[in-house]
Amino acid sequence: MSEKFREGIPAWTREHAAGLRRDDSNVAPVIYPPDERLDDDLHIWDTWFLRNRDGSVAEIDGYRVIFSLTSSSDLLPGKRHDVATIRYFYSRDGEEWTTGGVVFDGGALGQRQWAGSAMYDPDGDGDDVYLYYTAAGEDGAEELTYTQRIAVATGGTVRTDDAGFSIEGSWNHRIILTPDGDWYEREDQSRGMIYTFRDPWFFEDPASGETYLLFEANTPVPEGTGECDDPVWEEFNGSVGIAHSPTGDPTDFELRPPLLDAVCVNQELERPHLVVRDGTYHLFVSSHVHTFAPGLTGYDALYGFVADDLAGDYEPLNGHGMVLTNPKGAPFQAYSWLVYDHGDDLLVSSFFNYFDYDRPSLDDVGLLPPEEQQRRFGGTLAPTVRVALDGDETDLVDTLGHGHLPLPREELPTPWWERDGDATR
Ligand code: FRU
Repeated sequence: MSEKFREGIPAWTREHAAGLRRDDSNVAPVIYPPDERLDDDLHIWDTWFLRNRDGSVAEIDGYRVIFSLTSSSDLLPGKRHDVATIRYFYSRDGEEWTTGGVVFDGGALGQRQWAGSAMYDPDGDGDDVYLYYTAAGEDGAEELTYTQRIAVATGGTVRTDDAGFSIEGSWNHRIILTPDGDWYEREDQSRGMIYTFRDPWFFEDPASGETYLLFEANTPVPEGTGECDDPVWEEFNGSVGIAHSPTGDPTDFELRPPLLDAVCVNQELERPHLVVRDGTYHLFVSSHVHTFAPGLTGYDALYGFVADDLAGDYEPLNGHGMVLTNPKGAPFQAYSWLVYDHGDDLLVSSFFNYFDYDRPSLDDVGLLPPEEQQRRFGGTLAPTVRVALDGDETDLVDTLGHGHLPLPREELPTPWWERDGDATR
């Protein structure tokens, strides 16, 4: 069954992934704790912009807005996923951020909310913001569960005044996508690690004007299909899913076949999103060292793929896919990268994860004394990274400050290679 469903779907293969390695073009500098965190009372991780329907960053009366998964910073960092709450922050200059607060007033679906995206499309009747999120866990269940469904909340309105920016709303929440079991694995089909069906990303295709939602998923690989040379690899079945809105209604989507899969390669292609430049589609995902199949050496990193059209034949950037990773001595310092186009270069935002931790896996972070776990968790935005894109190759250019998110019209700081009088890049 899965073979049929995989027909024609571009693949990130073991041959591609065998080429993964750190080099000067993809290793970010070591991150040090910032003087100021975004909010001392909060752990902050996955973050996304409020964007216009065409994907550009929304600017509302001079404010840009980000949404983040958050929890109280009193909590042990490893526990934060169990209570994740979406909050918003706003800024006039992309450097100083003010905490706006919790977005939903209690009616959100799921036991907690995981990552998503946000679209600003004022229609004059109080429906300004569409917030897509992952409803994680079954509503009403006593125990914590890992069910994942894709939800949208509508009815949010924005207000601005001299004092700042706010989102208000009597939100209307609904589930818009669940896995079908053919293209997209359901929880009961999962053979290895917990399945994924999450991280919705609103996308309007500039070529056609059609409306889509991308998401992280897994391809069902029933036992005995011989999909991979080694049956153990079959549990590593990540995909980038997509759904289409036949009418353009941003709350009404139908599943389509995945844009890309990584069967036999990697189990999690997280937070998929697209940057379209000059008619070329750049698809980005985050993934972890521990979600690569045995026999492959991967990294906690941003990975990218390029194609000529939305449903095109995606090929990994740089031959292997890796665009940006953490240094060897700080392999978990950042995660959950998000790319946006600044004009000449790409800007990449992420969160500051575990620093001062150089072991090969995060498995034993929970064994550290609680105060060490707290000390080593960044829990705020990481320095933004500037990356040059040339055809199917990328190159790290420079880093900006923690959480510095300039809009395309704003000039970027002079890169280090000009600051030092060294003209080579
Ligand atoms: C990536 C991620 C997302 C998910 C969130 C949960 O950091 O795994 O895929 O939505 O974290 O906290």
